[in-house]
Amino acid sequence: MKSIVVIDSGIGGLTLLNSILKNSNSLDISYICDSKNVPYGEKNNEFIHQRIDLMFENLDVEKLDLAVIACNTLTASSIDYLRSRFDFPIVGIEPYLNFPKKLNLKPEDCCLIATKSTLDSLRFKRLQTELDPDKRISTVKLPRLALLLEKLRDHDFAEIKDLIDQELKVLNDISFKYLILGCTHYPIISKYLHLKFEAEIIDPSKYVVKQIFQVLNLNTDKNLSNNHFNLSEDCGQTWDKIDIDNLSFLKYL
Ligand code: DGL
Repeated sequence: MKSIVVIDSGIGGLTLLNSILKNSNSLDISYICDSKNVPYGEKNNEFIHQRIDLMFENLDVEKLDLAVIACNTLTASSIDYLRSRFDFPIVGIEPYLNFPKKLNLKPEDCCLIATKSTLDSLRFKRLQTELDPDKRISTVKLPRLALLLEKLRDHDFAEIKDLIDQELKVLNDISFKYLILGCTHYPIISKYLHLKFEAEIIDPSKYVVKQIFQVLNLNTDKNLSNNHFNLSEDCGQTWDKIDIDNLSFLKYL
């Protein structure tokens, strides 16, 4: 059985982990995050690298076949750092700017939402210069949405809806038909986003999942899904066995 670790600052990467689990039962999966320090978007690279170092110190790296950085913010700040440290494959997730080209859509019809630090990152600026040099895809920073969505761990959606609407207000003045999610927390409310903005929601995680299985040389099979994974919320210091169907906040997916 191949062994992978999926990493995020908080619960966002669970949206990607969910798709991995639903596609195979032949992986041993650990999910590691840093709930005390989420969101990482607010932290400097030195701090983030220290926390990542702690995560990997607490993992049995010899046994790892692949690491998934299931966080756009973390990919932007740290994937190069991680690849320089480890030999196993490391797959990240980035804002899906090549989506309009792939489907022959007008870039003007598309809007990308992401954290402030993802959109301010050098890595994103390079990607934009390469894939959308004329900046025809609107990009909107949502500095608080990831942290607000963390509240769904202990609150019902209805309790935080007003705060979410407040954060999303900036999108009311932009017209778009396709909304590209540039943060792994956002698929948690993709149904709500679809209804609110009457837009098609583009979540790149299915392409990342495809890439993960390709790199591992494994086939996906929806008939062989799994529910269980190991979870650590404190950078790998303590672990629990979790059934993903018991995580109620994923019901909004
Ligand atoms: N899930 C992370 C992402 O995809 C977000 C949040 C953060 O820690 O800033 O960007």
